[in-house]
Amino acid sequence: MRTGLILGIESSCDETAAAVVREGRETLSSIVASQIATHARYGGVVPELASREHLRNIMPVVRAALTEANITLDDLDAIAVTEGPGLAGALLVGISYAKSLAFPLNKPLIAINHLEGHIHAVLLEQAQIQGDALPLPAIALVVSGGHTHLYLARQQHKSWHYKNIGHTVDDAAGEAFDKVAKLLGLGYPGGPWIDALAPHGNPAAVPFSFAQIKPKVYRKETQRHNFSQQFFFSFSGIKTAVLRYVQTHEMAASIEARRSTLARIPNPRAADALPLCDEQTLGLIASFQRAVVEDLRRKTFQAAETFGAASILVSGGVAANRELRVRFTAEAADRGLPVAFPSLALSTDNAAMIAAAAWPKLLASEFASPELTAVASLPLGT
Ligand code: KG4
Ligand code: ZN
Repeated sequence: MRTGLILGIESSCDETAAAVVREGRETLSSIVASQIATHARYGGVVPELASREHLRNIMPVVRAALTEANITLDDLDAIAVTEGPGLAGALLVGISYAKSLAFPLNKPLIAINHLEGHIHAVLLEQAQIQGDALPLPAIALVVSGGHTHLYLARQQHKSWHYKNIGHTVDDAAGEAFDKVAKLLGLGYPGGPWIDALAPHGNPAAVPFSFAQIKPKVYRKETQRHNFSQQFFFSFSGIKTAVLRYVQTHEMAASIEARRSTLARIPNPRAADALPLCDEQTLGLIASFQRAVVEDLRRKTFQAAETFGAASILVSGGVAANRELRVRFTAEAADRGLPVAFPSLALSTDNAAMIAAAAWPKLLASEFASPELTAVASLPLGT
């Protein structure tokens, strides 16, 4: 008898996660073991360390997810795991473990694209909150430390289809937050630090120009995908502009002082950094965040108009950003378009989104082969 219960496993980057979700809409458990403390001292994810941490965490995390859901492996209808994109070594830990559970138990294994998972973080919660889905088609902005992608998402006979209509040509938006935070002597990951400090600065202090976030578009790529250039993103230019600002305004000494003061505080937070930031620094932080959020907002709503979308959804770590939520919500209200974000817990990497994305695939009997392996740069959609 079908129970509708799917165990999701996620290990694509620096979180080891497992969750049990019923029929893509009811979360019975969602456990995330974060590796932030391991990678913080390096200012970014170290792939080798990530794989080791996943190996250490995978069994206890899966066990905790089953215990919290009050079920055993026998109760599951399927096991879902992230196939990619992500760090190959990290992905392989989750995939190998999922196989080792699925095959002896004779349970189907379902492979999930991490980006589709982020989209389903929103759909899962929408189903819980409203009892019915967002109007479709939707423009989905997946914006995280590794990705900045725009998709047109639609459903056909219960299956989901995605058309990739734009992406970053260099850094992801979250990567820019992380690099700028590091450059300014703040903590890792940088997004939450910048989010917390930006309201204390003047967002008009540094006039970043559109040219600094305008991608150099590759003609071949636009032709191949039949893309419109207007939906490409580029965030490496603005990062360089921040660096240049820091250099020309001789901010190096104050940055170093902040970095070393924070390094002496155990588990430092943005509140610890606030008294260490002068008006100029806070203005730079606020202006950077405003420029990135505005670029994301402009292109997402432009895409919604171009493709006649009935709603917008935003997911991935950067979707946790407060200014982004405020500005997207305001524009959506002006246009009369529904906009949805995941809760903060489901914005960043988790396994509930993987288990939720697997439900339509279980219904369609779309199962992975025993040869399933990690695909570090797995694309989503057409
Ligand atoms: O989705 P996620 O957990 O992992 C990836 O798939 O990359 O996203 C992590 C990214 C990091 O770059 C982090 O700085 C960013 O999301 N992030 C934020 C915020 N919270 C996390 N960026 C801006 N504002 C935030 N509040
Ligand atoms: Zn992610």
